Amino acid sequence: MARINPNYSKLQAGYLFPEIGKRVRAFAAENPTAQIIRLGIGDVVLPLPVPIVDAMKAAADEMARKETFKGYGPEQGYDFLLDAIAEHYRGQGAAVEPDEVFISDGSKCDTANIQEIFAADSTVAITDPVYPVYVDTNVMAGRTGGIDPQGRYQGLRYLPTTAENGFEPPLPTERVDLVYLCSPNNPTGAVMSRESLVAWVSWARANRAVILFDAAYEAFIRDPGLPHTIYEIPGAREVAIEFRSFSKTAGFTGTRCAYMVVPKDLNATDASGAEVALHGLWNRRHTTKFNGVSYPIQKAAAAVFTPAGRAATQANIDLYMENARIIREGLSQAGYTVFGGQNAPYVWMKVPTGLSSWQFFDKLLREAHVVGTPGSGFGSCGEGYFRLSAFGFRQNVEEAVARIAAKLPAR
Ligand code: MLT
Repeated sequence: MARINPNYSKLQAGYLFPEIGKRVRAFAAENPTAQIIRLGIGDVVLPLPVPIVDAMKAAADEMARKETFKGYGPEQGYDFLLDAIAEHYRGQGAAVEPDEVFISDGSKCDTANIQEIFAADSTVAITDPVYPVYVDTNVMAGRTGGIDPQGRYQGLRYLPTTAENGFEPPLPTERVDLVYLCSPNNPTGAVMSRESLVAWVSWARANRAVILFDAAYEAFIRDPGLPHTIYEIPGAREVAIEFRSFSKTAGFTGTRCAYMVVPKDLNATDASGAEVALHGLWNRRHTTKFNGVSYPIQKAAAAVFTPAGRAATQANIDLYMENARIIREGLSQAGYTVFGGQNAPYVWMKVPTGLSSWQFFDKLLREAHVVGTPGSGFGSCGEGYFRLSAFGFRQNVEEAVARIAAKLPAR
């Protein structure tokens, strides 16, 4: 009989969001009249802006005519989108060439797949709490041992990011080859300062490590002093790969489009110790395993960078960030300690003393009919915390906050 990849047996039973979905469905089946408000998974609710849909429709029309029909496109993405992204980076003070950008169908896939081009015995560091994809994909690839009672995998290096250190990831104190950083952070909503990024880049350069920098939420940064891209930091092009997405920025969670930057200056060594450019290696992987994002979707993504596209997506981001403010302030007034939500669409709150994250999840669902995400689902340092997403309709967000304040005040 065929045998399974034994690393899959090390994984915890289910991925976080399907587990939440299962519990919510069970509750809804038993309580069919409950008006459930979902602020769990960070999924956008506002429709795609008109200029973006218009571009998608026009591209679909092109596909309907033999003069303009397109078959396979370039695996890396069409030039019109690569150019627009490079231009966008320039506007943010970072030098990225169009041919250093790779278009994909999502940052979840990109951050999951990138580890494939690194040695199987690479030492990997992640923050705790963390977006679970970084962890699970390294488990699947065999870079870890089993899981301990705290939910930590042997072999991974965990960097606690907690209220005590202001949610700033501490530099590793031991040898690490790869480190995943996410800023603005999912789940804590914290944003790494310029000083912190400078320290990380200099650490990576000194240790010849690679930073896998997830900037999927950069568009939600409001404070003009905070960096939007790691490439704003001198020297970062030699140590960092960056991931960005149209999902939350422009409402593409259902449409699927993201991108990744692999600078040509970034090298790692092969088995003989010779330096190899990661750009070429990723290009080899990408062209073998991916056939590109569809033309209409790339046209829609390019429309995000037009003046009309920018204005429309910014209006949606503003609406979500106002939701975040409402959640933050409402929960503070109800006695909760809250973090994040100022430069990120997630609010990270402390659960009332005596409850675990999952106990609070169940209580919130039962008593307020509100869904959030238990902090422990993001790692052991997330225990005792809870994440609320600002991606919701205004009325639902206001109602959720009012219900929490009325039914589960923290004081
Ligand atoms: C989340 O809620 O953490 C995100 O929606 C997950 C994702 O982007 O894959």
